[in-house]
Amino acid sequence: MDGNGRWARSKGFRRITGHSKGSIAVRNIVTHCRKLGVKFLTLYAFSEENWKRPRHEISILMRLLKRFLISERTLLMENDVCLETIGDIDKLPPDVRKTLEDTKTLTKNNQTLKLILALSYGGREELIRAFKKIGQNLLDGEIDLQNIDDTTISNALDTQNIPDPDLIIRTSGEFRTSNFLPWQSIYAEWYITSVFWPDFTPSEFDRALQNYGTRERRFGMTGDQIKKKTGGAF
Ligand code: IPE
Ligand code: MG
Repeated sequence: MDGNGRWARSKGFRRITGHSKGSIAVRNIVTHCRKLGVKFLTLYAFSEENWKRPRHEISILMRLLKRFLISERTLLMENDVCLETIGDIDKLPPDVRKTLEDTKTLTKNNQTLKLILALSYGGREELIRAFKKIGQNLLDGEIDLQNIDDTTISNALDTQNIPDPDLIIRTSGEFRTSNFLPWQSIYAEWYITSVFWPDFTPSEFDRALQNYGTRERRFGMTGDQIKKKTGGAF
């Protein structure tokens, strides 16, 4: 969800106005995904590297997050949305963390859409945590070095219960992955739009989906193999 600051600046507002407008876009996209039948939606809300921002901006972002988590509870419940997070949430201010945990607990039995907030998330940091877990299991003799495979690593990541993404949308026209889901995204389809996040409406989302629908996902195989396998469904 990139481009809040530039959206605001381009209109002569303070960056923070972009963040609060961005949270409205979040609400609209979550409701839209729920309507479309999307099962998993991950939003990169705050990266590990975002901790390097000015203290003032971080504190406003944290306040906005807390307010959003409280104000959207009804919407999450009405839409049967289950909230989860990935990232090192121990780094969040205690009150924000508490609000987050409360909202997760409240929505934990909801089934229609899993909304995953990547908060204090960095892909490399997630991998380091996973390798440490696996290392500890090796030292404890719970696993055998020879048996480590991609499932071992997938299961040690924050995303252990979440399928790899099919489509990753990046707004604001930047062509980089910025430490987002490095392990999980190897065969994701990327969609990059120059639209700034606050202007990313449900119809922009539909455009991304439409474009995704034109892709042939071969996963390293030939087009003919894929057609045979899927009965031409791709
Ligand atoms: C995305 O907008 C929101 C967060 C990273 C929290 P930015 O704040 O990155 O906006 P730009 O990139 O400066 O325009
Ligand atoms: Mg940015």
